[in-house]
Amino acid sequence: MLDLVRGTKDLFGINLLKHKKIIQSAEDLSKRFNFHELQTPIIEKAGLFAKALDDETDIMNKEIYSFKDKGDELIALRPEFTACIMRHVIHNPNHLLKKPHKIFSYGPLFRYDRPQAGRQRQFSQINFEVLGASSMLYDAELILLAKKILSALKISDYQIHINYLGGPIAKEKYERLLFEYFSLHKSKLSESSSSKLDKNPLRILDSKDLNDQDIIKDAPGIDQVLSNRDIEIFEEFKYFLDHLGIKYIWNKQMVRGLNYYTGTIFEFVTEKIGAQSAILGGGRYDTLYENMGGKNPYTVNQGENTILPAVGFAAGIERLSLLMDDICHVKRNLICIASISFNENANSLKIAEILRTNICNSSVEILSFNGNMKKKLEMAAKIDSDYIIFIGEDEIASQVFSLRNMHTKEVHKLDMQGIIDFFN
Ligand code: HAM
Repeated sequence: MLDLVRGTKDLFGINLLKHKKIIQSAEDLSKRFNFHELQTPIIEKAGLFAKALDDETDIMNKEIYSFKDKGDELIALRPEFTACIMRHVIHNPNHLLKKPHKIFSYGPLFRYDRPQAGRQRQFSQINFEVLGASSMLYDAELILLAKKILSALKISDYQIHINYLGGPIAKEKYERLLFEYFSLHKSKLSESSSSKLDKNPLRILDSKDLNDQDIIKDAPGIDQVLSNRDIEIFEEFKYFLDHLGIKYIWNKQMVRGLNYYTGTIFEFVTEKIGAQSAILGGGRYDTLYENMGGKNPYTVNQGENTILPAVGFAAGIERLSLLMDDICHVKRNLICIASISFNENANSLKIAEILRTNICNSSVEILSFNGNMKKKLEMAAKIDSDYIIFIGEDEIASQVFSLRNMHTKEVHKLDMQGIIDFFN
């Protein structure tokens, strides 16, 4: 009864620090790129996701958490942000007059899937959407933003995979091509993949089944069906990436687990965290607004055009945390103040207060007098202290203190201002 729900975790200590550092870095960069934050409710009407995400996707089919509330309304825990953000702008089309309208969100999401390393039933994302902008410049800029977030977190072990899905004609042609190819291998496909053959062969490309992957690796790529116009747009995207010096791999069989994408798609993948290799994913979804019933966002005089060009991405906070193994970037320094005699407890309180007021990014703990210096050092080590300052009669009289680094054992003799400068 006291167990956690499967696929959920408490966040504490270093994991919580990493979680917060990711949000803080994303928030900081979101502002530099002129994004505005939107917070949406965790619960939504289940129909929202039925409308935005195709029934054939795993997310809609098997992974959505839904339940009837006391008023008999079918409610879902949000499995992603994009649909919620679309709901918000459909209700507030005047926000779209600001072109591009750039939205940043973060928070918990829920998908009922088999938990494993890097895959949870409650997980969190940082999510970015650029609405009302059709230029490939924005697709490239989002990849640059994603790279900058990873670099702020000192994550460098990943590859960028890109692909282009093309318009509805290319999509239809590609589905036909995949249908023909996978039909030849139907008997060897997993049960789940062969059930997708008739309705949505594109989704077979998502399969993580090893036998399926063997078949998928020789499947036709999207390049066989792209129109000249599609290729032109994709070339422009690649040109911008090249111009920014961003390295990428054109993965011609890449599709995404969500059905709303219409053009560029991209994923950042790593081999460092096991089977769940995608740390971040996104792409262009120019028809979602219209498909969800959005009205002409600009002016009534511009005809019936309800297309809202849009592109975005989301990164999984837990997967990013797994890649952030260098804890120094997120841990605050812990400074211990140790009284050498009982009489110095009051002075320790005062000095701790001066340090807490004047030093940012550090924590200060007082070790009250209860033993010799050796014992104090042991106590400080036990609570993972980084520095210790001993306070005795001599130190108070001279106002010169010994600041000892607990890791290197180096000692600095400093006055109070010197200590403050040392940490700031
Ligand atoms: P997604 O590929 O479904 O895209 O999720 C994006 C990222 O969320 C994944 O790359 C992964 O890091 C993380 N993630 C997904 N599911 C889980 C899970 N069960 N446990 C842990 N992490 C997970 C989307 O959600 C799109 N809405 C992204 C987007 C925004 N496209 C356009 N705009």
